[in-house]
Amino acid sequence: MKKIVSIVLALTMVFALAIPALASSYADVADDAWYAEAVEALREKGIMNGMGSGKFGPDETFTRAQLATVLYRMAGSPAVTGEDSFTDTERDTWYSDAVLWASQNEVVNGMGNGLFGANEAATQEQLTVMLWRDAGSYQLDREKYASAEGVENQASDWAFDAVVWAKVEALIADLDAYAPTKAASRAQVADMVYRYMKLKEQFANVDAVSGATQKADEQTTPTESTGGKVLVAYFSATNNTANIAKHIADATGATLYEIKPETPYTTADLNYSDSSTRAAREQNDAAARPAISGSVENMADYDVIFLGYPIWWGQAPKILYTFVESYSFDGKTIIPFCTSGSSGIGSSATNLQKSASEATWLDGTRFDGSVSEDELRAWADGLQ
Ligand SMILES: Cc1cc2nc3c(=O)[nH]c(=O)nc-3n(C[C@H](O)[C@H](O)[C@H](O)COP(=O)(O)O)c2cc1C
Repeated sequence: MKKIVSIVLALTMVFALAIPALASSYADVADDAWYAEAVEALREKGIMNGMGSGKFGPDETFTRAQLATVLYRMAGSPAVTGEDSFTDTERDTWYSDAVLWASQNEVVNGMGNGLFGANEAATQEQLTVMLWRDAGSYQLDREKYASAEGVENQASDWAFDAVVWAKVEALIADLDAYAPTKAASRAQVADMVYRYMKLKEQFANVDAVSGATQKADEQTTPTESTGGKVLVAYFSATNNTANIAKHIADATGATLYEIKPETPYTTADLNYSDSSTRAAREQNDAAARPAISGSVENMADYDVIFLGYPIWWGQAPKILYTFVESYSFDGKTIIPFCTSGSSGIGSSATNLQKSASEATWLDGTRFDGSVSEDELRAWADGLQ
């Protein structure tokens, strides 16, 4: 079974990062170095250049001004006006626009006391925090991560959320080599920035979906027009499914219900590259039914249930089985949806269906980060 898990892992996790067969442009970057793809991609996009003489300097440090410049270029170097309010930055110098842009967009916050520290070596947690801020300073559910164990606990308090975020989003290439308060190497900068750019690309349209503010009572969906009361029940370990679920609820006027595990999943529990983690053990145990905290009030009132989950090794997490086996769905319609790194919904919904065969199940749908608000609404409107 372990072997099968490894093979499935190897196949399904290919979505993580594809490595093109590109020769390195730098004499000191081996073609097969772990950061080679990132270095080459950022060079091609003009975001991060070498150090001259055909060298990239992977082990060298990177200053905070250089880092702001990389992030500014990543944003397309938009025109800026004004002056930054730091007391230690030079005016009209090579990094001025970048630092101004970064402070105006809250990508940098300075080092306290009005200082920016342009020439200081950027630490790994500073790099992480800048990317996290660029991503919108995603706030952690602190309760969920209270027992987090790992690099985040070596980070400064102000960097904790950012480091957990970077771990969850797989932006850190090697957790063992990650030392939050130490200077970031140029290789780390390139690799992390590149991973972040790919993540941003993947979830480019989630922001558009998040911006959906249309009120449910301004909309008509088949589920409403047939008079059915609608529930959106979802499980989400890292918030991707939660985002989609919330917008389906907005679009349909449904009640939102989160399937919360009694024992929350830690980052380590979700490490899909380790077949001994909690998630892997549960998925491999046909009898596993992780306990749910709380329950749906008045399930009998609902006629239509959107049921959302992340794909875990091609299937629905076992907690979904706990959920569907906890209620009677007689006379109800279930509409499964999922999010995943790349896998389709596959047999995940039809397997789940076997545990609640009394319901009418519609075909399941997989959404990724690029689903647009219109697509989501059209999908909900098109359901019969
Ligand atoms: C334990 C585990 C296993 C995963 N297995 C797959 C997989 O087989 N195929 C895939 O495309 N993505 C896989 N992923 C990625 C998730 O499906 C994807 O990130 C999903 O959007 C997470 O949703 P959530 O944030 O709502 O938990 C896996 C993630 C985890 C944590």
